Amino acid sequence: MFSFSEHQTGLEGGWSGQWDSLVEETYSQPSASSGSSQGASLQSLVPAAGSDEKPRRLSEIDADSSPRISSGSGELDRVLGGGFVPGSVVLLGGDPGIGKSTLALQVAGGLAAEGRSVLYVSGEESAEQIRLRAERLPGLGGSLQVLTSTRVEALAGPWRELEPSLVVVDSIQTIQTEAIDSAAGSVAQVRESAAQLAATAKRVGSVLVLVGHVTKDGSLAGPRVLEHLVDVVLTFEGDRAHAFRLLRAAKNRFGSTQEIGVFNMAGHGLEAVENPSELFLEERSTRAPGSCVVPLLEGSRPMLVELQALVAPAPYGTPRRTTLGLEDARVALLLAVLDRRSPIDLLSQDVYAKAAGGVRVAEAAADLGIALAIASSRLDLAVPPDTAAIGEIGLGGEIRRVSRLDTRLAEAARLGFRRLLVPAVCHREFEERQRQDQHDQTKEGASPPSLGDCELVPIEEVAQAIDWLKRNGIPGDPT
Ligand code: TYD
Ligand code: MG
Repeated sequence: MFSFSEHQTGLEGGWSGQWDSLVEETYSQPSASSGSSQGASLQSLVPAAGSDEKPRRLSEIDADSSPRISSGSGELDRVLGGGFVPGSVVLLGGDPGIGKSTLALQVAGGLAAEGRSVLYVSGEESAEQIRLRAERLPGLGGSLQVLTSTRVEALAGPWRELEPSLVVVDSIQTIQTEAIDSAAGSVAQVRESAAQLAATAKRVGSVLVLVGHVTKDGSLAGPRVLEHLVDVVLTFEGDRAHAFRLLRAAKNRFGSTQEIGVFNMAGHGLEAVENPSELFLEERSTRAPGSCVVPLLEGSRPMLVELQALVAPAPYGTPRRTTLGLEDARVALLLAVLDRRSPIDLLSQDVYAKAAGGVRVAEAAADLGIALAIASSRLDLAVPPDTAAIGEIGLGGEIRRVSRLDTRLAEAARLGFRRLLVPAVCHREFEERQRQDQHDQTKEGASPPSLGDCELVPIEEVAQAIDWLKRNGIPGDPT
């Protein structure tokens, strides 16, 4: 099917999924700083909290004058870089039904329960629906202020009176301002409403969380227009068929964009997953060929993920190559390398490869694991259940260096893995470091650090990994 997205047209029109449906929008003067052309804008209705528009010396500005507000969720705090920054604007995006409203309500209710003033604005659900949802979630404060409205201007009164620490607007696509004439959800309307809300949040010092849907092409709706306007862009992702959800920062003015938060959607809302590896490996069938576990890194967090492959003779013509959760190009490349640089013959084979549990793998360090899963299926030899693998594969078949081997090794060892196939270069460096540490410690009279029971297997070339599998693999059940 042919499709195109709204912003590719370069027009301000709303895309309603039909041909000939571009709608002209009259766009009044933006009022982000100047006040709107029609009556009072939100900002002018809400007084600023002691604003000073005079320049100050950098050295006189106290960076700690606005301490962070913990969201009450360790996972969310981690992604935010240590909690909300007062006066900041956070955009929370994700597919419908992924749990954005649930997360927003949990955080809002949690902060209200701590005695903070919190305003939850919903343009999507009725107050009763919100109440019903809240009843499923533990620990919500009854003092949470709920406003159901789709008008930006309706926020002025409550914002002035409550001086909230946190304002949630769910969702930005349903909100509109009288300042401009276009319809709710249109690019101009989303941009203008968000600009007014953001300016007000900055003036008052409230944290503003804007919930936003994701369009079909995966970008945050209101497309990218909101991204420059907000301080933090969070995306909530996951497979709706699975319970776990990943929270990432696509942009963060106050912290790293490397950290991720992992949640589990339970019957009583979202709960933190402190040990994601356990969750991801829960359903692993340890004896079946075509599977390999890799210790990946998400930010500073190691995570063990199972990669799976199924190789079967292609019944006709061009063999199929299908991937899920892995990049097509990466798998195609690995197939070519396996074909040329190892004895694995894949020429007339269909290859299906996926990351189990709905995870999306982007790290190049997963290469060796993908190659082993494919080889394992082709040879009908299971990778031993206590073995994991890590390494990037070059086009020459060489296994290339990965970062932070220690962290990955520690996580694999923690989950009971006894062997980790690693790039030979990393292995040499690791041994060198161990020797150095041992040397330092004997001098101080302390005992050398324990490595756990996980043994490192150095691998130079992809062919060597295949060879290792042939010697150590467990034959599959003939069925
Ligand atoms: P929701 O937060 O409404 O998603 P979004 O705002 O991103 O569209 O989440 C909806 C889904 O979450 C819905 O399918 C039901 C499920 N859910 C639970 O499994 N447990 C819960 O406690 C709650 C509140 C929702
Ligand atoms: Mg929602």
